[in-house]
Amino acid sequence: MSHLAPAALAPLKTLFETKRGTLLPLPPKLSRLYGDLRMPPPRPHPHVFSNFVTTLDGVVSLNAKGHASGADISGFSAQDRMVMGLLRAVADVVIIGSGTLGADRQHVWTAEAIFPALAEEYRRLRKALVKCETPLNVIVSGGGEIDLRLPIFASGKVPTLIVTTTAGAKRLSKQRTPDTVEVRAIRHRGNAIPANAILDEVCQVNPGKLILVEGGPRLLGDFYAERLIDEQFLTLAPQIAGRDTGDGRPSLVMGKAFAPRDALWGSLIDMRRGSSHLFLRYSFP
Ligand SMILES: NC(=O)c1ccc[n+]([C@@H]2O[C@H](COP(=O)([O-])OP(=O)(O)OC[C@H]3O[C@@H](n4cnc5c(N)ncnc54)[C@H](OP(=O)(O)O)[C@@H]3O)[C@@H](O)[C@H]2O)c1
Repeated sequence: MSHLAPAALAPLKTLFETKRGTLLPLPPKLSRLYGDLRMPPPRPHPHVFSNFVTTLDGVVSLNAKGHASGADISGFSAQDRMVMGLLRAVADVVIIGSGTLGADRQHVWTAEAIFPALAEEYRRLRKALVKCETPLNVIVSGGGEIDLRLPIFASGKVPTLIVTTTAGAKRLSKQRTPDTVEVRAIRHRGNAIPANAILDEVCQVNPGKLILVEGGPRLLGDFYAERLIDEQFLTLAPQIAGRDTGDGRPSLVMGKAFAPRDALWGSLIDMRRGSSHLFLRYSFP
């Protein structure tokens, strides 16, 4: 892993930028590294945005033991982690599926956890935005086979919400639930919970308006299928990962097919460059 201090981290070069939304008060170091960041002004319904990194050939996980994380896709890019941290720092909630937790079991989904060197800047930004210290971490799991001893639940560093089915909640109730963890069961046949129902539960627990979906691909597919994603931040990493037949390497969205019958087109609204990585931002109507 790269351990570049912020001073050694090159700023992104803005190629073109969106003028939509409100300019956020980034602390000087973050502003120098990222440039301007705008987000929609407060409105009654939440703004749901996603952030992923993909290879040039569309792979988001190498799906190989010890190499299943986003860092293997980005090439451990410090700039990508800086942006991940920035988006988590402005989010009220970060939602992930149990597969993403399974690929990074020691992680908590906070800005400082992904890029500790900028922890102080992220903290200052949250304070300026009048947000609590950390975003609510939401784990979605139909089956509820989740180990509540993992740091995300047991460290007390983040409030967490597990959205599951009634069967999943029953399974989880066999473990001790730490004080910082809330489990919400959605009565639903089968393991797949509609993304709308997930979002409803999240908004009841945390009425914050900026909701970051960090995936993985199956959870994101469900959100796209219900047209719940407003924006996609996408880092394009300059590697070709390749695929072997049956190696299970996922792309951005899995489990749902849109084109050609129900094609989903976005508009590119922002583009920055960090060496050979591109930092793209798409809006979906
Ligand atoms: N490159 C990137 O930016 C990036 C970002 C995120 C993840 N990833 C990678 O993606 C891989 C994981 O992929 P994945 O598709 O398995 O991830 P995932 O979507 O996080 O996890 C899938 C699991 O989440 C639960 N889930 C998702 N949607 C659900 C719904 N609507 N209702 C109920 N449960 C739901 C289910 O859990 P149960 O089985 O517990 O019921 C499902 O098996 C990892 O290797 C991870 O590193 C890459």
